[in-house]
Amino acid sequence: MLALACSKGQAPSNTGTELTSPDGKLTLNFALTANGAPVYSLDFNGKRVVKPSKLGFELCDGTLLTEGFELADASFDSCDETWKPVWGEESEIRNHYNEMLVRLGRSDGVKMNIRFRLFDDGLGFRYEFPQDGKLRYFNIAEELTEFVLCGDHTAWWISGDYDTQEYNYTKSRLSRIHSQSLAMRLSNVSATDFGPDGVQTALQLKTDDGIYINIHEAAVVNYPTANLLVNGSKHSLRIWLTPDAQGVKGRMQAPCVTPWRTVMVTDDARKVLASRLILNLNEPCALDDVSWIHPVKYMGVWWEMITGKTQWSYTSDVPSVQLGKTDYSALKPHGKHGANNENVRRYIDFAAANGFDALLIEGWNEGWEDWFGCQKDYVFDFVTPYPDFDLPALNAYAHSKGIRLVMHHETSSSTVNYERHMDAAYALMNRYGYDAVKSGYVGNIIPYGEHHYSQPLINHYLYTLRKAADYHIMVNAHEAVRPTGLCRTWPNLIGNESAMGTEYRAHINPGHTSILPFTRLQGGPMDYTPGIFEQDMSITAPGQKGKMRHTIANQLGLYVTFYSPLQMAADLPDNYERFPDAFQFIKDVAVDWEKSLYLEAEPGEYIVCARKPRIETLNKAAEGVASLPDGKKDMLSGAARFVYALPESATARDLVVAKARDVWYVGGVCGEKAHEATVKLDFLDPSLTYEAVLYADAPDADYETAPQAYTITRSQVKASDIIKVRMARSGGFALSLRSL
Ligand code: NOJ
Ligand code: CA
Repeated sequence: MLALACSKGQAPSNTGTELTSPDGKLTLNFALTANGAPVYSLDFNGKRVVKPSKLGFELCDGTLLTEGFELADASFDSCDETWKPVWGEESEIRNHYNEMLVRLGRSDGVKMNIRFRLFDDGLGFRYEFPQDGKLRYFNIAEELTEFVLCGDHTAWWISGDYDTQEYNYTKSRLSRIHSQSLAMRLSNVSATDFGPDGVQTALQLKTDDGIYINIHEAAVVNYPTANLLVNGSKHSLRIWLTPDAQGVKGRMQAPCVTPWRTVMVTDDARKVLASRLILNLNEPCALDDVSWIHPVKYMGVWWEMITGKTQWSYTSDVPSVQLGKTDYSALKPHGKHGANNENVRRYIDFAAANGFDALLIEGWNEGWEDWFGCQKDYVFDFVTPYPDFDLPALNAYAHSKGIRLVMHHETSSSTVNYERHMDAAYALMNRYGYDAVKSGYVGNIIPYGEHHYSQPLINHYLYTLRKAADYHIMVNAHEAVRPTGLCRTWPNLIGNESAMGTEYRAHINPGHTSILPFTRLQGGPMDYTPGIFEQDMSITAPGQKGKMRHTIANQLGLYVTFYSPLQMAADLPDNYERFPDAFQFIKDVAVDWEKSLYLEAEPGEYIVCARKPRIETLNKAAEGVASLPDGKKDMLSGAARFVYALPESATARDLVVAKARDVWYVGGVCGEKAHEATVKLDFLDPSLTYEAVLYADAPDADYETAPQAYTITRSQVKASDIIKVRMARSGGFALSLRSL
């Protein structure tokens, strides 16, 4: 037996070690079994939540890191610090935990340490391999971490996959996952399941006595993404990693650490939304200068392509494009190319007139004629515009109106090609003043055989973030792996899609947006692309079919319930022009927050949040416009105007001298069942009176029969007031509150 030592805090015993959370409600027990197998268990308020569960690995050479260990040492530590995110749901985050590091050794020289951190809202633990152990270079066949639960809990899950999480969620008991798994899969151009017992993280669970358990991971760096393998009859879960093209599930070089495995536990669903467990387990910001990173409210020449009104491609005359050899100027346009000069200018005018920061344009570059489904390596060069897209002139025009253009890099999943062109692509962005890129990974990955969530791809996504940071570029990556809090370290990762978003139109289930904050959003913000006012596809794009299943008030509520520093008003200008009074809320609402409160929540049923804007960000947004190469110094975003109660004609200078108001936004969304929200305004300043504008579902609103029926009510309110508001089926509400 190796010597046992303890640095500070509680003294471990020879047979087990125990750690408690700062508030004493969570207790973690670590032990070695009689044959030296490491196990842990977790209790909440004295009740078991995770039964003794195994830890360890199987390596590709057959070595099992599951038993034969002795406890060399256990040391304890604690941390209570506050840090300031560059953007976020609040301006300060408390990182408060107790820590236990157990050092394990084996007679064959293997050393494996496990670091546990216990917060008031949950557990994080990871494996660490020191340099002085026997293992130097080793390949993982599987990580064998278990989560043995205490019952057949209710789960909100999407099925396990190595390539996509663009799925609707299913709510079922753990034991029903196996039989329901196939039914919930949608066709996706790149999807790889590993059988009917797989689910993805973040997995939201609820026990029959009302405990919410959320299992996820944090800080996935140089390691594959974890799915979970469900044993429905034993109510247990086990990590199932994404293999690389050769079947390896992690290529390790000591010293190294794994991502954190997380188990959030609370008896209040609102606390799941308030938790910062995943962010706290990530490393602090890696960038010295973050002055160029800012939240973005944007529109896009995008929905018209998604709905089929226009297209990304330019011509029907080329069966296959050979970049650099295909002379587009000699080809006949098919007449449906969305990213043409005239159309883009129209969007710039609209976005500028309505106080937006930016405009995304897709389909601007050569290669869209055969980008999809053919797994073509040299698919785009990311620098050559189509003949009808005058990139320098459009940027100059946008900047003169205070709008930045957002670049679009669809990689078509050829990461090889993207890395080949990345410097030139980012340099082009710098030359013309683009500071944000939406990237995309549609289709099967090149290098051939890799998966969206395998270790080489995890490394690719981080490579693009570092590279983008060198060029002062913010990134919003679609179809990339779902985030695990890396935006704390790399705050230029301002968005990801990585879940089923608005692009799925009529396929999205009512209730989807009241599940995502419990699952996908736990790891970081989502570019969900809300704001679709016209649900009927045949109206937006004549000849198309399908109706989206939400009300207009639901779409407004999302700007508050779905936190993202990057928020889109996704619908067409024409559709917003038909509902100017509802559109006003999207113009006014902020995208970065001083404080967030979670007033009501139940997964899949309803979420109600109240948020107070971060004034610093609005000031910075006004300065940001002034920094545009051709920018006018007097532009002001819609949100900044609203907060200070300034007229449309107000300038950035007016903002500086304007008297600050106290402003809050409240939003709610609900699922398949209607819900009456009770909003107690006790978060307001009791000494002030506020002007309230409530955007609600009309009494007859319903996502199937009257999705566009809403009411707008103005009133004066105080902190002692309570507002009751009915949300229709798949409905919602939005409320802006500004002190007089
Ligand atoms: C899928 C993305 O999610 C969508 O937003 C984009 O328009 C298309 N790929 C084309 O890149
Ligand atoms: Ca997508």
